[in-house]
Amino acid sequence: MKILGIETSCDETAASVVENGRKILSNIVASSASMHAKTGGVIPEVAARQQLKSIIPVIRQALSESGQDKTTIDTIAVTIGPGLIGSLLVGVETAKTLGAVWNKPIVPVNHLVGHIYANWIEQKSEFPALALVVSGGHTDLVLMKDHGNIKWIGGTRDDAAGEAFDKTARLLGLPYPGGPNLSKLAQEYLETNNAPLTFFPRPLSKEENFDWSFSGLKTAVSRAVTNNSNVSKEQMAAETQEAIVDSLTIKSVKAAKKFKPKSFLLAGGVAANTRLREKLASELSSEAKEIAFHVPEAKLCTDNAVYIAAAAFFNYHPTRWQKLSTNPQLTITE
Ligand code: KG4
Ligand code: ZN
Repeated sequence: MKILGIETSCDETAASVVENGRKILSNIVASSASMHAKTGGVIPEVAARQQLKSIIPVIRQALSESGQDKTTIDTIAVTIGPGLIGSLLVGVETAKTLGAVWNKPIVPVNHLVGHIYANWIEQKSEFPALALVVSGGHTDLVLMKDHGNIKWIGGTRDDAAGEAFDKTARLLGLPYPGGPNLSKLAQEYLETNNAPLTFFPRPLSKEENFDWSFSGLKTAVSRAVTNNSNVSKEQMAAETQEAIVDSLTIKSVKAAKKFKPKSFLLAGGVAANTRLREKLASELSSEAKEIAFHVPEAKLCTDNAVYIAAAAFFNYHPTRWQKLSTNPQLTITE
């Protein structure tokens, strides 16, 4: 089955063709991030207007690079939420139109569930699986007993992990997108320093739940920047990154030991973070050896349409175009 995936939940306009949920035939991502760099963050109206300009060329390119066309595509998969309403509408209305004109079924996909399916691309993840989804707007830990069987275990009580990266990066004077820029600076520091990084607290880490709180980190970083002019920006970045990575790792390992899944799946834009990938892999292998750790290659962690097509293949619930609508507030278990 060849699925055309469409993803437009935030500032990426993406289309892909994926065969049988695992084989990438094409993966096109156009980003308006450089426009948001000027304003220091995504302005929804600007993102939506850019989606409108990019969507048709991106879909055309995804089809031509895959060697497929409307006659060989079986199904269209599209992100219906969560995300920015204006951006989501561009993808969903385009999918509806193509579904109607080409007479194809459409599979609506939850963006957060989609992220997890990047772990099925050219690899085999087994159930039961614990999945940690860390993105710009969400941080959720879920237990998956099977495709479509998802139970929420814990998550952030305030800011998402990606949001914590982005907002603290801004406090450190780093340009948008904050996460990758902060991470780059932190990695530079880590190359020549290996002293423990314990400057910032890890809230809730001793509590018997699988929740996180990242909002206090902004105040802590802001104070630290003002009061510690002797500490380099690189070190501050490394300390900030470590606080986020450590918090995520502590609860993930705790959950792995409690639920004893066959696999642990890391997903979402923050899963592209080198330190998080390494620390989680290493802690899981020493604390819960029998659990297979999976993480997508970095470019499949950030928003793309490959995992949207993969999620649709493994959760094949097609609908007619008339039934499709966006849901900007969709949660991971809906
Ligand atoms: O999943 P994603 O691409 O978009 C959303 O669905 O939100 O995640 C974007 C988030 C942003 O907060 C971005 O700063 C963060 O992922 N991010 C990173 C890295 N790459 C992306 N955070 C830390 N280190 C990275 N290397
Ligand atoms: Zn995302």
